[in-house]
Amino acid sequence: MQQNYSRIIGIGSYLPPKVVTNDDLAKFVDTSDEWISSRTGISQRHFVETEKCSDLAYEAAKNALLSADFSAEKLDAIIVATTTADKVFPSVACNVQYRIGARGCCSFDVQAVCAGFMYALGIADSMIKAGQYKNVLVIGSETMSKLMDWEDRSTCVLFGDGAGAMLLTADNQPGIISTTLHADGKHEELLHAPIISPRNNDTVGYLKMEGNKIFKIAVNNMGKIIDETLTNANMSYQELDWLIPHQANTRIIQSIAKKLKMPMEQVIVTIAKHANTSAASVPLAFDSAVRNGKIKKGDNCIMVAFGGGLTWGSCLVKY
Ligand code: UT7
Repeated sequence: MQQNYSRIIGIGSYLPPKVVTNDDLAKFVDTSDEWISSRTGISQRHFVETEKCSDLAYEAAKNALLSADFSAEKLDAIIVATTTADKVFPSVACNVQYRIGARGCCSFDVQAVCAGFMYALGIADSMIKAGQYKNVLVIGSETMSKLMDWEDRSTCVLFGDGAGAMLLTADNQPGIISTTLHADGKHEELLHAPIISPRNNDTVGYLKMEGNKIFKIAVNNMGKIIDETLTNANMSYQELDWLIPHQANTRIIQSIAKKLKMPMEQVIVTIAKHANTSAASVPLAFDSAVRNGKIKKGDNCIMVAFGGGLTWGSCLVKY
């Protein structure tokens, strides 16, 4: 039978053990729990201590493989979405490939910041649909804490570290129904992390963001791309069981849900505990909703994310 779809058969995630609450941050940043929770919905975040991006990716990968009782040797490809790789090269994907024992399989990183996981899923889906790859592990892993300027209270309270992973396999049933990806390089200065001194070392500068402007574009673009993805799939909002949005701000998530006319009970919100983990945000949220019994096999789920680039993407999947 022809296997024209990719289906999610495994899912996993990992958070570094160190939890930093808003009150913890307020000890060295000019902020308060009241401001952070009311403006963003964030109560705490996880930060790495000695772990690297590849360590988080490796743990999430192991958990995803375990959930499907799947041997790494059978993987044909590993794609890691990240903006905070351990090194300029080699890729996080190559590191994970070696450590999980998937020797020889195609492995590479994708850099599309907070929309990175949507990009990685879209690429994996196309690779499987083209018939050349059967089993692809897709990971979103970030150590955003290393990009934080602790003097900039408007950004350093927003982000966290973590990783999420999905295992896709070729199947004759969907699976991934439709993926839409977009970018607009015009707004580079609104959200970026410049390289400070590339000649002397590989230091990447702190993340800078014009939050207000990004907020408006994020709401608008995520709303539109969900429309586009549903239209491409010939589906309506009413057929959706779950919305799994990028976890950047509760107010952004509420605005998108309102546009979709989806009650908040059908929206997965993990921002309070995870904060914004960039490319890891959607798979982390998805995995926690599967583990706590909300998302079930056969549910129609729409994922959506938006980030620096600017980049944005959406993926409609029957779980
Ligand atoms: O993942 C990539 C996508 N990222 C996003 O989508 C993030 C989008 N943007 C946002 O979520 C929001 O714009 C922020 C959470 C970043 C900011 O919220 P805001 O309601 O837009 O606040 P603001 O930037 O307009 O600042 C309001 C006030 C300012 O004080 P004044 O000028 O009114 O006196 C800020 O200085 O809040 C102040 N402020 C803070 N106060 C305490 C900014 N950050 C803090 C802070 N603690 N951490």
